[in-house]
Amino acid sequence: MSFHKLRLLVFSSLVNWSLCAHVVFVDRFTFTVDDRDLFLSQSAVVEQDGNRSYLSGHMVINRLVNDLILTSSMDITRPHRPELRLYNVQLNFCSVLNNGYKNKFIRLLYNNYAEFLNTKPKCPLRPNFNYSLHRAYIDEAMLPDLLPECTYRMKMSFKNKSKLLAHMQIEGKLRTKR
Ligand SMILES: *[C@@H]1O[C@H](CO)[C@@H](O)[C@H](O)[C@H]1NC(C)=O
Ligand SMILES: *[C@@H]1O[C@H](CO)[C@@H](O)[C@H](O)[C@H]1NC(C)=O
Ligand SMILES: *[C@@H]1O[C@H](CO)[C@@H](O)[C@H](O)[C@H]1NC(C)=O
Repeated sequence: MSFHKLRLLVFSSLVNWSLCAHVVFVDRFTFTVDDRDLFLSQSAVVEQDGNRSYLSGHMVINRLVNDLILTSSMDITRPHRPELRLYNVQLNFCSVLNNGYKNKFIRLLYNNYAEFLNTKPKCPLRPNFNYSLHRAYIDEAMLPDLLPECTYRMKMSFKNKSKLLAHMQIEGKLRTKR
């Protein structure tokens, strides 16, 4: 197994683990553009509805993107405890998008979100196409109970070579149902 695959596996299991609570609330969802020339339009919206948080958003770019590096980290905080970093990874996101669907975890994750996306994204990402996410949420039914109640902050940044294109942040709380 290559180092890259190993990292992806570790990342996968941590993502799985980090989602292990009964209710996942999102308080803040932001998508910030760093390369203003690339994006024609984008949005990120979080809606609270009942006991769920729904994420929606879209992006339109103006040129082909075929080289995309994703850097992501997730930190959690519990009362009276130091902040804990669950993971910090860097992935070739284009190869995840283009070949990752063969990976069991990516397929699971993708199948879970496919209904919220208007297309199955592939590299190169196309210009003038509206990639959109509509009211995505985490299905509590598929979450086992492992993590304690905590607040979390997940960061993702997207780079082309070393140039920062955009970054995204999701903050919220994990609550266990009583
Ligand atoms: C939200 O969760 C509480 C406690 O589990 C439950 O009593 C209530 O019915 C839920 N509300 C909705 C809209 O699902
Ligand atoms: C990404 O970097 C490559 C090589 O530096 C460049 O040719 C390409 O135009 C860049 N793409 C974007 C979307 O900035
Ligand atoms: C892209 O799609 C979203 C969701 O359907 C919509 O809200 C947005 O206005 C669209 N933007 C453009 C530029 O077409």
